[in-house]
Amino acid sequence: MQSSPNQLSRCNDVRNGINVRVFANAVDANTCVATEMAALIRQRAQDGKACVLGLATGSTPVGVYRELIRMHRDEGLSLQNVVTFNLDEYFPIQPDAPQSYVRFMNEHLFDFVDIDRKNIHIPDGTHPLDSVAADCCEYEKQIADAGGIDIQILGIGRTGHIGFNEPGSGRNGLTRLVKLNSLTRNDAAAAFGGLEKVPKSAITMGVKTILSARKIRLLAFGEHKASIVEQAVCGSVSDAVPATFLQGHQDVQFLLDEAAAEKLVSNQNESGDSC
Ligand code: PGA
Repeated sequence: MQSSPNQLSRCNDVRNGINVRVFANAVDANTCVATEMAALIRQRAQDGKACVLGLATGSTPVGVYRELIRMHRDEGLSLQNVVTFNLDEYFPIQPDAPQSYVRFMNEHLFDFVDIDRKNIHIPDGTHPLDSVAADCCEYEKQIADAGGIDIQILGIGRTGHIGFNEPGSGRNGLTRLVKLNSLTRNDAAAAFGGLEKVPKSAITMGVKTILSARKIRLLAFGEHKASIVEQAVCGSVSDAVPATFLQGHQDVQFLLDEAAAEKLVSNQNESGDSC
């Protein structure tokens, strides 16, 4: 018998206000998040309302999108009432570039579900520099006009970035143009075919934009994320690790595989707390 998504996590603990859930593997964590999204999408559809999703790119959320596609194909999940806002986009970039997040979202989700294309929002990497500030204000307005984000999906970068809010990004930041950190650019170098081809800038929702979401679900998999996950959950709240700002959110979960949770488990004290 298949276990229900709520039974999938092996450990479920609240640390510094973050609900930390550890799963046997990434597939179970992805299923859990996708099932929560699908339940809200269906609930809102029954009520004749939209469901507003904040979406992320990178390798981490691909499994969530795969599961949503499966539910659409096999279980009749419709995304017609879904409105999406992506976290970020490189700047400058053309939407058909292999590394563009427009292309990523089409190839990993949008081309395989029945979402209405006019409900998709991704920061525009094609406009001239002098119109980006106005675009960013408009992006914030579109999120507000949609009623705010119901569920925001996040990955976490090795710098502790969420979206492209690199170290030094404050709690009150809104959607804006940012410079990319060198570690982040290095991590993207293979995808661009060399560091010198990685854009130096990006447009990203700010930390405040992200914290405005009603629910936040951060996924992290693999031992290379263990150290930054520990800092995000256990570290003092500071712009040195922007993910620590999530500690102040009213409904935030970190969904981890065992490798990403490894440092949280290994420094657990006798009372079971790890921070
Ligand atoms: P990744 O990136 O999912 O490719 O690890 C996460 C991030 O940088 O936010």
